[in-house]
Amino acid sequence: MGQGRVTLAASLIAGLIFWQGATAAPTAPPISYGVDADTFHPVKEQHGMVASVDALATQAGVDVLKRGGNAVDAAIAVGYALAVTHPQAGNLGGGGFMLIRTASGHATAIDFREMAPIKASRDMFLDAQGNADGKKSLTSHLASGVPGTVAGFALANKEYGTLPLAQLIAPAIRLAEKGIVVNEALADDLKVYGKEVLITHPNSKAVFYKADGQPYARGEKLVQHNLARSLRLIATQGPDAFYKGEIASEIAAEMAANGGLIGKADLANYKAVERKPISGTYRGYEVFSMPPPSSGGIHIVEILNILENFDLAKMGFGSADAMQVMAEAEKHAYADRSEYLGDPDFVKVPWQALTSKAYAKSLAQQIDVNKALPSTEIKPGKLAPYESNQTTHFSVVDKQGNAVAVTYTLNTYFGSGIVAGKSGILLNNEMDDFSAKPGTPNIYGLVGGEANAVQPYKRPLSSMSPTIVAKDGKTWLVTGSPGGSRIITTVLQMVVNSIDFGMNVAEATNAPRFHHQWLPDQLRVEKGFSPDTLKLLEAKGQHVKVLPAMGSTQSIMIGPDGTLYGASDPRSVDDLTAGY
Ligand code: GLY
Repeated sequence: MGQGRVTLAASLIAGLIFWQGATAAPTAPPISYGVDADTFHPVKEQHGMVASVDALATQAGVDVLKRGGNAVDAAIAVGYALAVTHPQAGNLGGGGFMLIRTASGHATAIDFREMAPIKASRDMFLDAQGNADGKKSLTSHLASGVPGTVAGFALANKEYGTLPLAQLIAPAIRLAEKGIVVNEALADDLKVYGKEVLITHPNSKAVFYKADGQPYARGEKLVQHNLARSLRLIATQGPDAFYKGEIASEIAAEMAANGGLIGKADLANYKAVERKPISGTYRGYEVFSMPPPSSGGIHIVEILNILENFDLAKMGFGSADAMQVMAEAEKHAYADRSEYLGDPDFVKVPWQALTSKAYAKSLAQQIDVNKALPSTEIKPGKLAPYESNQTTHFSVVDKQGNAVAVTYTLNTYFGSGIVAGKSGILLNNEMDDFSAKPGTPNIYGLVGGEANAVQPYKRPLSSMSPTIVAKDGKTWLVTGSPGGSRIITTVLQMVVNSIDFGMNVAEATNAPRFHHQWLPDQLRVEKGFSPDTLKLLEAKGQHVKVLPAMGSTQSIMIGPDGTLYGASDPRSVDDLTAGY
């Protein structure tokens, strides 16, 4: 695998240059849990903690923990609540991934990624000229995969939860029925993205727009009666209400009337799957993350394995050398992503090779601390037209030390923007994560290969990366982020900032981020890096571009004495880390 690329690039790079940056004994500072002198301070609690993008959802999770529910119970309550309070990404009509590490050290992953309906076909998103048609894969009724969230939460509840599902859905029912006060994030997103998607669909307009034709604004009350009814059906009848009952009928009718493909049989056949997480080691820590159909776990471990060959701590946070090495490692990983990754139930993903230390070493030897390898010399590709930052992540730790990381989504803001009939449920546009035309970039600029071509009942490739890091056998860091293709590098930086640069979890979260995804050949940076550093990176051959903020991490770190340290991302408004 990747042999041609490795051989070609290896012949371009002088080994001596590589060793300028490499060292066998890294000089990482001790881990910080937050001291007075630090610039940013984590939230501190003793018994349980939840970090999510929405204060009401965080509170729903904390209440479950206080009532004696475990971290899985609390995560399910947060997930259901976000479907009401954060319709930009929280959902019943989407899908995602849950990573669990129990207090006893058992790590497992629940895959509730959406699935292509049976009538889906390889070229369904091509126009008459044979070009990928983003409108079809993003905003039409064809854009939705069969939703997985309700099945995923039910599986997690059955296998790892302790409280009845109905109790965990109850806060969401209350929030939908009594209404929520629209916060700044929702008001802004309704204003900007609502007019692109929601307003064109009468069912969606009826939910998110007032009689005067304006979207709900900050401070106004949003009541979602239809969604409350759907939630109540799931609470009383279980997931069958969604996959075989009244809600299934509503979704199938919506599709049939509008040229969509999802039928009742597709919904009845949907299954959430428990999978073995991708695991690796980094400077003595164990790293667990999401396996395919997410690319996240494989590439986080692949990049960390490459970085282990360099003394990042000595180079220093924000130094041109550390950023150069990380960017070059990211390029190699994203090139591999385009070629090898897809739904493991359909294609053979060479995850062992991609996450091996030997392969990482061969890639590390191609990295020149002083000179960027142009992406065109790795593989050709095209530019991204537009990028979305949606999706949402939440992290939970309970008093026993069970940890849960969930990333789930509708894909772009409000998904396809289509509410299915009278269900009150927004449907995803996750079909865009397939390679509509292998070799052509999707909305995140990610180029996919044949491995990720559309096929009936296949799950599209994802970047979502709920991640848990353990130290001395105990869970140490629980993290994850939205951000499309930038999820992998955002989570990576949480790990590297904490381990290599000794930052406390709030500092690791606040630190400016950067991202390279191989194609386009662009080192995307947030504001906050020194102009001198950026100049040095340009001199090394990086094409630096300062662009808007990346990600919204929601993270919890556990100190040696069991104290919980959490941080929500300042890049989001209205998010909250809380506990008791
Ligand atoms: N829809 C974004 C992802 O799954 O990575």
